[in-house]
Amino acid sequence: MNIDVIYMCSSEDMTQIENKSVSLVVTSPPYNIDIRYGNKTAKGKVLESKGVKYSDNMDEDEYRTMLSRVFAECKRVVKDDGSIWVNIKNRLIDGEIVAPFWIQDFFRDMYLKNLIIWNFDWGGSTNKRFAPRYEFVFWFVKDKNNYTFNLDDVKIPVLNYRPDKYKSQLRNPTDVWRMSMVSGNFQERTAHPAQYPEQLIERIILTGSNPGDIIMDPFMGSGTTAVVAKKLGRHYLGYEIVKDYCDIANERLSKVEGQVTHD
Ligand SMILES: C[S@@+](CC[C@H](N)C(=O)[O-])C[C@H]1O[C@@H](n2cnc3c(N)ncnc32)[C@H](O)[C@@H]1O
Repeated sequence: MNIDVIYMCSSEDMTQIENKSVSLVVTSPPYNIDIRYGNKTAKGKVLESKGVKYSDNMDEDEYRTMLSRVFAECKRVVKDDGSIWVNIKNRLIDGEIVAPFWIQDFFRDMYLKNLIIWNFDWGGSTNKRFAPRYEFVFWFVKDKNNYTFNLDDVKIPVLNYRPDKYKSQLRNPTDVWRMSMVSGNFQERTAHPAQYPEQLIERIILTGSNPGDIIMDPFMGSGTTAVVAKKLGRHYLGYEIVKDYCDIANERLSKVEGQVTHD
């Protein structure tokens, strides 16, 4: 089986990946809110895709069928002590919030260990409701008693540390993660309209895997998951149907190549 590859095809079929070979799946699926993947970017530039174009406005049943196929493949390739992390957010459909709890239906044979709230300050404003400032990260494990969880690797500084009161200057993160979105002036910013931040994925990969493990992202986009995996000495695998995004991901990866030791 090849590793450190992003396949330019749909992740509904992951024939290239062996059963139970992946330690961690980390992903952010398309949201089906009509983001013009393969056409317009967040910066308003037009990216002409020569590969398969994907528009984020499928019929809802078709969308959920696609996700069910992808997640079935994710479960097939994940090891018994592995886990699946899915970043997803509320959608506004016909003036009403649709919360993404329906994705749990795809993971009834796994266990939800945490539902992380990722909170940030950046985003659009509205005077019709409170402006949205969080997304979810669902964390599912295959075996509820045996899974990788390296809590010591992701400790964070205690606020207002007092040596008389606290044993350590570090504490465990909670299930609310306050981390910035990737805004326009960030060095990691690419032309992808739905890029998630390296900081978010770094905590997930450190917690849920060990050096040398394989991390897989079925919706690779600009390659954030692969880039962070590489930086942390892990291997990556992934799928992305838009050629321009594969190119962006591979270019980002070429800049981190050499920083890590391969097993
Ligand atoms: C929310 S974005 C992921 C962004 C990514 N996390 C990043 O940081 O850049 C979802 C991606 O999934 C891709 N995609 C949609 N359907 C797909 C499929 N069936 N197989 C593989 N990729 C797909 C889209 O082109 C889009 O780039």
